[in-house]
Amino acid sequence: MGTASTRSLPEVLETLDAIAWDSPAATNMVQSAVAALEDGKVLYFPRLAFSTLPPEKRFFSPAFADEKAKNISFDPATGQVRHAVGTPEDISAISSMLKRFHDTARQFVTVLLPQYAGRLQSGRTSFRPVEVQGRKLSARKDDSRLHVDAFPSTPTAGTRILRVFSNVNPEGRGRDWLLGAPFEDVARQFAPRVRPQMPGSAWLFNAIGATKSRRTAYDHLMLNIHDAMKQDDTYQAQVVKNDFSFPPGSTWIVFTDKTSHAALGGQHLFEQTFYVPVEAMLDPSKAPIRILERLTGSVLA
Ligand code: SIN
Ligand code: FE
Repeated sequence: MGTASTRSLPEVLETLDAIAWDSPAATNMVQSAVAALEDGKVLYFPRLAFSTLPPEKRFFSPAFADEKAKNISFDPATGQVRHAVGTPEDISAISSMLKRFHDTARQFVTVLLPQYAGRLQSGRTSFRPVEVQGRKLSARKDDSRLHVDAFPSTPTAGTRILRVFSNVNPEGRGRDWLLGAPFEDVARQFAPRVRPQMPGSAWLFNAIGATKSRRTAYDHLMLNIHDAMKQDDTYQAQVVKNDFSFPPGSTWIVFTDKTSHAALGGQHLFEQTFYVPVEAMLDPSKAPIRILERLTGSVLA
């Protein structure tokens, strides 16, 4: 067994010194920020903290999250909160807190990545008050194993998944992550193992409401790559990886459908998901769907 190797940190993480959510582009970093993100790097803002209000501090407890769920989620489009436990007043305060994170993250991304601004679609917002370490989950649900994101019920047909994370831990606890191999390597290793989608299954999943839209060949491939990565213990042990602990008061942005990542530990995190159409990218050829299409020689959506 070979020992796992590491890439140099600048290969996986780009540090940018924004200190205010409303003016991320105080330097000339805008051009390179987009390129770095599309290359699969994490954009890391060590001093960009999301401030919660004093009455919100009480929500920093796993007691407010449904035991079966990993996090409390919020839909910015409808205002609906899911998996939160509390009085109607608590739920409404949690809703405002999550809405504020969404609005803050959206404004930040809009200014930082003006190329995407007009095309950015807001997905779910989440608050994660449950300690990551020590959770017992099946391999497929275990985010402490390196993976690229693919959602079983939300097919994207290639649209990019861009996520903003803010560690708000009040006790100095970092969010401990692993960053894995480049997407091209992941795709080369796992795509050939994926069996074709069963004829009719995409139609069926959609018809019975298991998916929100038709699962494309791309979604099928990504979902299976996600599962196969997590289920391969040898891969997890031997693949090139970097560990990095995002400290409290820091924020990071990453295309989680391309960048292999895992969360090993940490508690109290905000996360905002955005969707970016492939055509809005500075270089669409860097999208996972285009990379997989080149490798498989087929149109995937
Ligand atoms: C993940 O997206 O896999 C988990 C990220 C986290 O909760 O830190
Ligand atoms: Fe993930």
